[in-house]
Amino acid sequence: MAQPGGTASNNHSLAGPEQNNDKGNRHDEPTEEKVEDLTRYNDGSVKLRNPNIELMDQDILYHLALGSGSHDLQEMFGDVKFVCMGGTPKRMETFAHFIMDEIGYKLPAGTQLQDISAFSYRYSMYKVGPVLSISHGMGVPSVGILLHELIKLMYHAKVKDPIFMRIGTCGGIGVEGGTVVITENAYDGLLRNSYELAILGKIVHRPAILDKRLVRELKSLASSDDPYDTITGKTMCTYDFYEGQGRLDGAFCEFTEADKMAYLEKLRDFGVVNIEMECTIFAALTHYAGIKAAIVCVTLLDRLKGDQVMAPKEVMNEWQQRPQFLVSRLIKKHLAQMGHLKSLASTPSSIKSPRRFKLVQQESEAHE
Ligand code: URA
Repeated sequence: MAQPGGTASNNHSLAGPEQNNDKGNRHDEPTEEKVEDLTRYNDGSVKLRNPNIELMDQDILYHLALGSGSHDLQEMFGDVKFVCMGGTPKRMETFAHFIMDEIGYKLPAGTQLQDISAFSYRYSMYKVGPVLSISHGMGVPSVGILLHELIKLMYHAKVKDPIFMRIGTCGGIGVEGGTVVITENAYDGLLRNSYELAILGKIVHRPAILDKRLVRELKSLASSDDPYDTITGKTMCTYDFYEGQGRLDGAFCEFTEADKMAYLEKLRDFGVVNIEMECTIFAALTHYAGIKAAIVCVTLLDRLKGDQVMAPKEVMNEWQQRPQFLVSRLIKKHLAQMGHLKSLASTPSSIKSPRRFKLVQQESEAHE
């Protein structure tokens, strides 16, 4: 059977997504040799770099509680344009409700948002018209498994030109808590701009590259009226929250405060503005799949000033909305450009005020 994916070295030499992103330019340069696009069909739908999948009778997306044999994935997800991910189920449920209001999406009468992946007991997934809102859990392995299944979901559903965005939290480096950071490039704990994985006993590196145009566009959508800063910079990804991020307050610590500060200052001098635990795999797998992607995080603290996350819950909740505001502005802008924003609101709904609706529901439940 043909080998999907290729080896470490040919990962870099194949016609990759960099060429895809510059597709427009290629049309203007007729002399350039036509290179097969390994990640896209002509209509923009996602092509898999794995010949095995189309030979399978059905593909079970186990961690999403979905399958190509059991569900009409094209009917369910064919209209998706934006796939938004964040760590916790609660944040992504909140984002689903928020984006529903923002884009004016109306649910049919008598229905409510459902966690599509509830029966996986792994990830939560909500669909609001063209937006998917999904929890990815914590850390590289959790995001990696989800991305494999989401990229396959895009393929089965024949989704065209999806944009993946991670809405996260992070520690800042010389950056105040509550600052919004748009990742320019993702680095691992050794400051390599790639994601490293052992496949069949061999180390494979995949470039951890995000879409530069999306970075610029997101930055341009920050408003001078926002009562916080929105910056761009390098993000470092670690496999751990404590020792891996140079914290002194884990269960173990074998370095001094001076060692920690020297390390964090070295990161700052390299241009790292924030640390989290997902960016390399998120950037690398989306890039390898030819999917445009961006990462927008809010800092929970400045690591040059401490290790413990101490902001009060209400403050933290408000901070966590900030990346959502930015991502929502981008989604609304794109939908407006596609002429989709108005049509989303056209499904009649019986709910005039979601707030009052909730109150009435609570009242009714209290009298059960
Ligand atoms: N997430 C991280 O990975 N690190 C922090 O310091 C805060 C949030």
